[in-house]
Amino acid sequence: MAFSYRYGALCAEAVPLEAIASRFGTPCYVYSRAAIERGYRAYADALAGRDALICYSVKANSNLAVLALMARLGAGFDIVSGGELARVLAAGGDPRKVVFSGIGKSEAEIEQALRARILCLNLESEEELARVAAVAARVGSRAPIAFRVNPDVDAKTHPYISTGLKTSKFGVPYGEAERLYRDALRLPQVEIVGVGCHIGSQMLGPAPLAAATRRIAALASRLARAGVALRHIDLGGGIGIRYRNERVAPIARFAAGCLKALAGRGETLILDPGRSIVGSAGVLLTRVEYVKRNGAKKFLVVDAAMNDLLRPALYDAWHDIVPVRKGRARPHVYDVVGPVCESADFLGKRRKLAAGRGDLLAVLSAGAYGMVLSSNYNSRPRAAEVLADGDRAHLVRRRERADELYAAEEVPAL
Ligand code: LLP
Repeated sequence: MAFSYRYGALCAEAVPLEAIASRFGTPCYVYSRAAIERGYRAYADALAGRDALICYSVKANSNLAVLALMARLGAGFDIVSGGELARVLAAGGDPRKVVFSGIGKSEAEIEQALRARILCLNLESEEELARVAAVAARVGSRAPIAFRVNPDVDAKTHPYISTGLKTSKFGVPYGEAERLYRDALRLPQVEIVGVGCHIGSQMLGPAPLAAATRRIAALASRLARAGVALRHIDLGGGIGIRYRNERVAPIARFAAGCLKALAGRGETLILDPGRSIVGSAGVLLTRVEYVKRNGAKKFLVVDAAMNDLLRPALYDAWHDIVPVRKGRARPHVYDVVGPVCESADFLGKRRKLAAGRGDLLAVLSAGAYGMVLSSNYNSRPRAAEVLADGDRAHLVRRRERADELYAAEEVPAL
């Protein structure tokens, strides 16, 4: 287990979180190396024997240490910005295994990607095709491209993270894909290498992904008949994790659905999972600053806030919150809130917790879309990040200092 109690104290692998808190302070993200590697291997095992590439979705957790772990395991990377590309390269990732998604790639980002010789740009509009062709002509290279096609499949997830319906801003419409590929075929500056899709995040069952795969496979067959040969089919990410009591199908079952729909096909299968690799591999460690009562309501005011973990405020998302040391105080029902001046600043509501002032709490399943969504709101320096590896704890991002918050600012001579 990545996070488990030993003698009543919650540990990250073999490191007590209390030791991490006293060494590195709170709030602090703590990741388990073993859990991250297990997450990747679940995909590698499920796809063993198939020509496949797992492109870890950098947006879920882009700490260089996490990316370096992935690179060592042979993963590719799914990126959405020039910043993410820079991170991947800085962490030793192989650009030839990088796919670049996103609906708003700038000319500078396209140029950066072409110069780095990435595997593929996933295009999301006709205008983007023209822009990529123009940049490729200027740079003097041929741009490897795929279209991200919107298969119009309902991922059955939170509307904010559902992306595969035809009302969404993502991808090109399924019905227009063939025409776009034919247009691309005529452009000497681009080389068609694949097709992509991504229908949403935090999917619990394999059926929507399997349905999307069938639609994409059918498209690939039609494209082949039209003379467009694809080297890969990228089915995106989106496999969910358990936050509360959800029943999530095992990764192998999602993979089996894709493999079945692609049976007999020769293209390389690409998946770009994020959350399912790192989500359960991280916690946010926080300390109770105050126990506060307002009328009938009780609050635990902790030192982590919505600027550290935005998911509860943004999606009303549930993260389990547990005491780091068991059996300290009498349990009460609390709202766990941060110091930020917003009513949406909560980490959990109506939680039965035995905790008092000075105690440590762990917010679970915070390894994905945690630190990456953090901000400096209220001029709060961003949290530290620690990677536990057996009985060792490595600081993989130090806590920000207050002077860094305004280091890029200037007061003009007024
Ligand atoms: N590929 C593409 C093209 C994507 O847009 C995404 C996520 C992924 C892969 C990775 O999806 P995953 O395997 O992590 O589900 N901030 C939200 C999640 C946003 C997901 C955006 N796209 C959250 O905290 O739930």
